[in-house]
Amino acid sequence: MSKRIGVLTGGGDTPALNATLKGIALQCEELGFELIGLMQGWAGVLKQGAYCHLASEMIDEDQGGTILQSSRTNLRASGQIGEAIENLKKLKIDALIPIGGDDTLSVGSELSNDFATTFVTKTIDNDVGSNAPEDSSVNYMQLVNYFCPGFPSAANLIAKYVRDIRTTAYSHNRIIFVEAMGRYAGWLTLASAYGYPDLILVPEIEYDPDSLAACIEKKYSQVGNLVVVVSEGITGKDGKLLTESEELDSFGHARPGGCSELIAQDMKERLPSISSSSLRHQVLAYMQRCGSPISIDRDTAIRAGRLAVQAIKDDKINYVATVMRTENGIEPQLLHLEQVLKRGDDGHVIRRSLDLRFYDAENFQISEAGIEYFRPIFGDLPESFQYPDLNIQYI
Ligand code: F6P
Repeated sequence: MSKRIGVLTGGGDTPALNATLKGIALQCEELGFELIGLMQGWAGVLKQGAYCHLASEMIDEDQGGTILQSSRTNLRASGQIGEAIENLKKLKIDALIPIGGDDTLSVGSELSNDFATTFVTKTIDNDVGSNAPEDSSVNYMQLVNYFCPGFPSAANLIAKYVRDIRTTAYSHNRIIFVEAMGRYAGWLTLASAYGYPDLILVPEIEYDPDSLAACIEKKYSQVGNLVVVVSEGITGKDGKLLTESEELDSFGHARPGGCSELIAQDMKERLPSISSSSLRHQVLAYMQRCGSPISIDRDTAIRAGRLAVQAIKDDKINYVATVMRTENGIEPQLLHLEQVLKRGDDGHVIRRSLDLRFYDAENFQISEAGIEYFRPIFGDLPESFQYPDLNIQYI
């Protein structure tokens, strides 16, 4: 029996969002389903909401972003879940596929109480799902939602930027603090390890300027340049973000960002022996979210999109097309909503922090377990920067 499927994309864009849409459109066409694309996330299901008839040939899976555009519309806060359901029924949509991160899927989880919904995750923050049980060594097949579509491509971008900026740090004997996105989770910041930075600061560990200054001073005296990657979500001893925007978004998030400049300034004051002009900062911001997806991200996103449509065909409602690591490698599997999108007492999807077994806090570096996590995405850790052998002599 033919169905009319609705799809929307909410929250921050990623390089793999169109790939998920492509998979959804292809599977709909194979099953003879009609696909309605709702524009600008949850705003598309409200009065005056915009929508379009979506076909696979309209979608380029190798183009970043989302052709349906996005927003951070919070129907839970505005009490418009009922209005959304009314409008979905008015459009004669049989089932909805929200594609999003914790915010978008928190709205979708509530809507799914009264409307047929199946989910696909996405976010460069990689903070939707759950980590492997803490009890023993990491069982990688027990991570629920191994990665969120969009994360591998953003991780690849940050590793490239960090690898590339080393030549500037070397050429000018500079210490460059590179600021990564990821909001409150350190997954993306940790991925920078594949660009061999000297130090990595994740938001799950509070800022400790004394140990950072000591580490910088020691390393700088050895090689004369450093690349230090810091998460935008770094917090101080008070548990608050080091820097944040004044305004809040509709989900109550203050936008983090700017801590790299503050940390660079702090290190200038703590390290008078290093010329202050040698300490610089670089905020990567939206450069981590754009561009084409890498193949593992694109192909997994397409497969996840297909799986979500197949779930609706098989009347498997309230499921999430979830990325898993199995003996066969990385593959999407259908898991029930409750297994993937655990919600707190406030009804919001609980965000997944970085598994700190993946991080060597003492050395501000990735751990062996962390390298094993990234292996399906990047393989082995690459060789670090090759310093030229100049046999320097002095007058
Ligand atoms: O959630 C994805 C993300 O890129 C975060 O890493 C970042 O803090 C936030 O979105 C930025 O939000 P906006 O796109 O609204 O500026």
